[in-house]
Amino acid sequence: MPFVRGWLRDPVGVGLPFPSSPSTARRLAEAALESSSCSGPVLELGAGTGAVTAALIDAGCPVHRIVAVERDPELCRALEHRFPGLAVLEGDALELGALLAAAKLSSMAVTISGLPMRAIPVEAATRCYGDAFDAMPPDGAIIQYTYGLRPPVDPRAMATKVEATFVGREWRNIPPMGMWRYRLAR
Ligand SMILES: C[S@@+](CC[C@H](N)C(=O)[O-])C[C@H]1O[C@@H](n2cnc3c(N)ncnc32)[C@H](O)[C@@H]1O
Repeated sequence: MPFVRGWLRDPVGVGLPFPSSPSTARRLAEAALESSSCSGPVLELGAGTGAVTAALIDAGCPVHRIVAVERDPELCRALEHRFPGLAVLEGDALELGALLAAAKLSSMAVTISGLPMRAIPVEAATRCYGDAFDAMPPDGAIIQYTYGLRPPVDPRAMATKVEATFVGREWRNIPPMGMWRYRLAR
């Protein structure tokens, strides 16, 4: 119910009135953990009710290693209740640099984003990704999921050279979910 209420409050920001399917969440968690070269924090943008958070924990990521960013206050409370010990940053992930600075967090290992990037102006989306890359080591990655067929943030719009690689599409999701990995180009 928190997810449905969140969707009713902000249908564009939340996307669909139900969370990612367990198979999608599992694949996202695997992709993120495989993409991180160190054991630092996993940054989750747009955590919702925690479908992907739960999959990360199931995949062996300790809850204290996850930093969840969520804008909707009720969803933040639901996350805190569901995952004791989870670091929940309530605020706008599009102001990621300021949000991390306020929480005195600076080094993340990997980022997973469920933000509806296709509905977000390109300047805000690229600033958010830039802040995420600034917080990660040079081989850090952003795993982004989207219902669209293309990478939802055009890598060519980024100030630094970035590559987007298609990770796969999960069909056991309504609608099917595409997953992309963004990395700084070498
Ligand atoms: C598509 S839902 C994904 C929820 C969950 N991660 C999942 O996979 O089921 C997108 C989530 O991002 C949150 N969100 C959207 N825009 C945001 C923003 N600018 N800052 C923080 N959270 C945002 C929404 O409130 C919603 O919970």
